[in-house]
Amino acid sequence: MHVRRKLVAGNWKMNGSRAALAELAPIAAAAREAAGVDVALCPPFTLITLAIARAGGISIGAQDCHSAASGAHTGNVSAAMLVEAGAKLVIVGHSERRQDQCESDDFVRDKAEAALAAGLQTILCVGEVEEERVAGTHCQKVLYQLDRSLPELRADAELVIAYEPIWAIGTGRTATPADAIEMHAVIREQLAARFGDAGQRIRILYGGSVNAANAAGLFACDNVDGALVGGASLTAEAFVPIIEAAAKS
Ligand code: PGA
Repeated sequence: MHVRRKLVAGNWKMNGSRAALAELAPIAAAAREAAGVDVALCPPFTLITLAIARAGGISIGAQDCHSAASGAHTGNVSAAMLVEAGAKLVIVGHSERRQDQCESDDFVRDKAEAALAAGLQTILCVGEVEEERVAGTHCQKVLYQLDRSLPELRADAELVIAYEPIWAIGTGRTATPADAIEMHAVIREQLAARFGDAGQRIRILYGGSVNAANAAGLFACDNVDGALVGGASLTAEAFVPIIEAAAKS
């Protein structure tokens, strides 16, 4: 039996400002109260250093990194640069980047390898589109994507998987607990097949319209080890109840 601590990670996407960092104090206070829960927040690059100064016990990270250490990649940021800025984690392979920036599974895997090698906790995202769920090919799709995006594990940095059905992101529609149980179970099987016992220790987050009302139901599901939260991580009012639900689960 593997006991995995819950991880509640916020993804501010291209939102936030210096003024919005005022949300961090109440979030940090809730994180301190939430025994057994890890709390992380990924603001835009420009706010990382400022956020760290106000983070309390929250881990601050980034929403992406490049796979290369440095070089001619205008507009990109490397894992080493994130570490120097004080980031503790990074999200890679978010569906918005896979779609908007045409990121391939191979590129996502290279990013994850680079992030882990730099010592960053790495949240690797996978998920299916609505047509695939309707067609019943959602598990097949996610396992294929995972297979091709998974990095090698390293002893000194943690890999986390986030299952985020694309039809649930920012739409107010969430996977049902039954949907989450089904998908997280097949992801767990694949992680165990690939990494053995270490695969049992990898946390699998659910993401896609997680909020105060649905968090507890999702956290009660087998193999749901936390959440990657977009919209509801932007304010303490919305984010704190999710942290509290994780603490109670
Ligand atoms: P959402 O975003 O919670 O706003 O649906 C989740 C995500 O994209 O990580």
